[in-house]
Amino acid sequence: MDTENTQFIPMPRIGDKAPEFKAVTTQGEINFPVDYDGKWVILFSHPADFTPVCTSEFITFASLEKKFADANCNLVGLSVDGLYSHIAWLRTIKEKIEYKGMKDVEVKFPLIEDITMNVAKKYGMIQPGESSTKAVRAVFFIDPKGIIRAIIYYPLSLGRNFDELYRVLIGLQTADAFGVATPADWQPGDDVIVPTAGSCGVAKERMENKGDMHCYDWFFCTKKLDKEKVMKAILKK
Ligand code: BEZ
Repeated sequence: MDTENTQFIPMPRIGDKAPEFKAVTTQGEINFPVDYDGKWVILFSHPADFTPVCTSEFITFASLEKKFADANCNLVGLSVDGLYSHIAWLRTIKEKIEYKGMKDVEVKFPLIEDITMNVAKKYGMIQPGESSTKAVRAVFFIDPKGIIRAIIYYPLSLGRNFDELYRVLIGLQTADAFGVATPADWQPGDDVIVPTAGSCGVAKERMENKGDMHCYDWFFCTKKLDKEKVMKAILKK
């Protein structure tokens, strides 16, 4: 690697403001994250157009676009390919590829061209141990205020789990809407975790009079949260 010319760009972290950029996409120019003010965004990268894992992912994501939109979440993709490659690949997906019963799939969300790797580098999507020319499969969950709330990275060979991506989005929105945390493998309708007791008095009270809570111990109490309530809070926006 040419270390003299290698500019150090810190990886964005959870809680950071999403790095800003302007880019050309398959849906026109975007000014990120300003154009998405007030919305959740999943910004994700893929290694290359016209590759099998990426094709399976794009068909799946495009098929789920409405489900994400209903949760106030826009999708934005990126790879280190040019605009005409993107256009040709998305046309091929629509015209020729049927995958797991999904066919005639139109990718309507923007796909960023990033030949210069300007955006990919800003977001730590180029991980040279994996590839210095292709982005890894990164997923950034960005909230309506432009703050990065969760990040998942997958290697080139592993296709993403889209149920998990949706679960992460709904989990973040549930935490915000109800002031709770969500336990292992949480799904809407499962019990949620109430904030830990912040004083000896509250800890004692919780253990003596749990009310509608279930306390495994003073620091670990859960309560019911109906799926309908969760989905109503999330889908109303
Ligand atoms: C794929 O999407 O199939 C792929 C892309 C780059 C490296 C390996 C697999």
